[in-house]
Amino acid sequence: MKQPHQIQPAEGKLGVLLPGFGAVATTFIAGVESIRRGLAEPFGSLTQMNTIRLGKRTDETTPLIKDFVPLAGLEDLVFGAWDPIYDDGYESALKAGVLNKDSHLEPIKDFLSSIQPMKASFSTRYVKKLDGPHKKSGNKREQAEELRQDIRRFKEENGCDRLVMIWCGSTEIFLRPGPSHETLESFEKAMDEDDESIAPSMLYAYAAIMEGVPYANGAPNLSADIPVLEQLAVERGVPIGGKDFKTGQTLMKTILAPGFKTRMLGLSGWFSTNILGNRDGEVLDDPESFKTKEESKLSVLEQILQPDMYPKLYGDMYHKVRINYYPPRGDNKEGWDNIDIFGWLGYPMQIKIDFLCRDSILAAPIVLDLALFLDLAMRSGLAGIQEWLSFYFKSPQVAPGLYPEHDIFIQHWKLKNTLRWLMKEDMLTHLGVEYYD
Ligand SMILES: NC(=O)c1ccc[n+]([C@@H]2O[C@H](COP(=O)([O-])OP(=O)(O)OC[C@H]3O[C@@H](n4cnc5c(N)ncnc54)[C@H](O)[C@@H]3O)[C@@H](O)[C@H]2O)c1
Repeated sequence: MKQPHQIQPAEGKLGVLLPGFGAVATTFIAGVESIRRGLAEPFGSLTQMNTIRLGKRTDETTPLIKDFVPLAGLEDLVFGAWDPIYDDGYESALKAGVLNKDSHLEPIKDFLSSIQPMKASFSTRYVKKLDGPHKKSGNKREQAEELRQDIRRFKEENGCDRLVMIWCGSTEIFLRPGPSHETLESFEKAMDEDDESIAPSMLYAYAAIMEGVPYANGAPNLSADIPVLEQLAVERGVPIGGKDFKTGQTLMKTILAPGFKTRMLGLSGWFSTNILGNRDGEVLDDPESFKTKEESKLSVLEQILQPDMYPKLYGDMYHKVRINYYPPRGDNKEGWDNIDIFGWLGYPMQIKIDFLCRDSILAAPIVLDLALFLDLAMRSGLAGIQEWLSFYFKSPQVAPGLYPEHDIFIQHWKLKNTLRWLMKEDMLTHLGVEYYD
């Protein structure tokens, strides 16, 4: 990847398109609007709150990221969505039950109600636990073409300069990449023939890339994680990223596991279980959707701990992840972890975590950061997989033949070094020998 000569300025409006207008999408939009009106702070967002050190520690130069790289401002964001359930932003947010009605939804009701979802490309074959009447007809190729028209119409009607698309739709059933996902010919033929290997999320990704719109996938289903779309993104100069927002239990895992490894502490078992009662939890109650999520959650420890390299420490670890749909809990998930570790002379120790988290509260700032960073990537001329955005994902997409980096601290370092690289600043190595000359 070449260092960009120049980054186009972030002028005009940036349209953020969201396939899936449920808990995460509405919590994100409501949050941005509340922040714009001065009613809330952008906690959890690197683009809004994090600083970046430039040069030596003694230089004391640490601007905010948003003052260092040219990002779109929150005031320039406009939102669009697709969903098979025809609820406007206010109704959907109310049903999601994440944000408080009186203190957070009523004050911005006018704004939320003004966003109505477009007709979705949706099929119960891929998401079995929900359905809605607000969807497109026609074969998959026709639906992809309609999505492209939606994108163009949205851009024109809203006077947008640029667009990005972030998949906030339900987790689809588990699919493996196959022959129809290899080339543009085989992919388009499969769309024409309504082949089952083409899931709706792939149609959105295809439509976005064809329209020159950066695309990220917040769920674990394949979507743009197939050779044809990765290649298409490179050819059309479009940045892409995925998969599966890193929130909740997996966020904790990628914070703790690197700690155990850096201290050479062994791990014999990690049992994770969750109860959640939102619509996402209901979709994941279907074994086929759960399998997609399970694969995404399980890969993390193997990659961080590298049992092949450290067989005595991690060769026999037992890792289990369970998700249980429990309606009374709503979006306020509870995740328990029992971690069995061992240290000097093999003496065992246990760590218990009980994380009373709020899924969509953790996911919303990720959507914001991905939208702003993908737009930056596009204006910088970066195309294809944006591995520097792995920080935000449970199953980061990487170049073929590479293993993904899951350690959140390495991911964070990589993200910031990429920003320094984009702005032609020195990268940080943390070597620091110069302070002792
Ligand atoms: N909340 C988190 O912390 C978190 C973390 C990681 C991943 N995710 C993933 O993000 C996604 C959204 O989560 P959520 O809590 O908002 O779920 P949700 O069920 O509240 O919202 C998903 C919405 O997507 C819609 N949808 C499904 N298929 C669609 C399609 N083909 N086109 C358009 N819309 C479609 C559904 O009707 C639903 O309204 C899920 O896949 C979830 O697994 C969420």
